[in-house]
Amino acid sequence: MKLLVGYASTQGQTRKIARHVADRLADGGHAVELLALEDAGDLEMGRFDRAILAASVHVGHYQPSLAAFAEARRDWLNAHPVLFLSVSLAAAGHDAAEWRALDRIAGDMAQATGWTPAQVVQVAGAYAPSRYDVFTRFTMRRIIAAKDAQADLSQDKEYTDWAALEATVLAWLAA
Ligand SMILES: Cc1cc2nc3c(=O)[nH]c(=O)nc-3n(C[C@H](O)[C@H](O)[C@H](O)COP(=O)(O)O)c2cc1C
Repeated sequence: MKLLVGYASTQGQTRKIARHVADRLADGGHAVELLALEDAGDLEMGRFDRAILAASVHVGHYQPSLAAFAEARRDWLNAHPVLFLSVSLAAAGHDAAEWRALDRIAGDMAQATGWTPAQVVQVAGAYAPSRYDVFTRFTMRRIIAAKDAQADLSQDKEYTDWAALEATVLAWLAA
């Protein structure tokens, strides 16, 4: 199968997730194109059988490059079984209000772009103080301290469950 894995990433975790997914798909013998959505240009979707798109949540929104990409290609995206990986730190926890917010964020994106993903999967991202500016580091330290009492606030920490991600992608591919 010819597959597109497109991503939008601010601190790099969603890029890592997209690359991991693309590598596993390629291991399975598929032809995979890994693409930063901001570089999509006039990418023609007709040459792909399926696509996985991924973006991360920052202050309640995905990156603008996801919306621009999705809006421009919504007819193709709506007509194909596209998997959307929504990456966040809320998905690392079990707070019901935060999970409702994630549903709302994905719903807002669908409404704004006209693309309703066939499947949305919430993926836990990473805490990455090494990549934050001073203000962001301060804000994120407080959020992580409240969320994860075990975390060393000075160290980057990955919450992504790689095995669960692979299982999700393989199930989507087989469906
Ligand atoms: C400034 C900032 C704002 C964030 N806002 C949210 C948020 O509103 N909800 C959430 O669940 N996670 C939030 N996060 C966590 C990110 O979604 C998480 O760190 C993710 O792994 C970032 O992906 P990226 O490295 O691909 O950009 C935020 C992170 C930063 C740095």
